[in-house]
Amino acid sequence: MSATHPGSIKVLFVCLGNICRSPMAESVFAHKVQRAGLQDKIMSDSAGTGSWHAGELPHPGTLRLLAEKGIACVHRARHLKRADLDLFDYILTMDNDNLQEVRALGGGKAVVRPLLDYAPGLKAAEVPDPYYNGNFSEVYRLVDPAADGLLVALRESHNL
Ligand code: 4NP
Repeated sequence: MSATHPGSIKVLFVCLGNICRSPMAESVFAHKVQRAGLQDKIMSDSAGTGSWHAGELPHPGTLRLLAEKGIACVHRARHLKRADLDLFDYILTMDNDNLQEVRALGGGKAVVRPLLDYAPGLKAAEVPDPYYNGNFSEVYRLVDPAADGLLVALRESHNL
């Protein structure tokens, strides 16, 4: 996560392995936050419900796509923990399995929602896993408008 500031809004993106979808969503969102000059107000991070890839860099497919878009990514994969539900204000999941896994941890202050709720025009509820189909462009096509919608929603809700 980027350096925390007291009182900042904390947003966590969650997928299964934390090497493909959620680091892409985190990086795309952080890029938009930076462009809006809100980096001291909104912090973001990502995590996986599985621990197999903890400590690893994102998948080459995610890194290549982000590089093509001129978006930086310095994330190392990490395993989601129960404490994240108290630390973060918003937890945005990529698919229904992720959503159920986060909810199964129970409680916490975080608002837990599918990321694609923030892009209703897409008419898609889940971000398909490119680890199995190699389609990293599709991940970007879905997470980019959702990150826009999320930023608009946060600016409205928190008067930013
Ligand atoms: P991600 O993709 O959840 O978008 O990071 C996956 C990465 C790794 C595995 C599954 C999905 N895996 O089974 O190792």
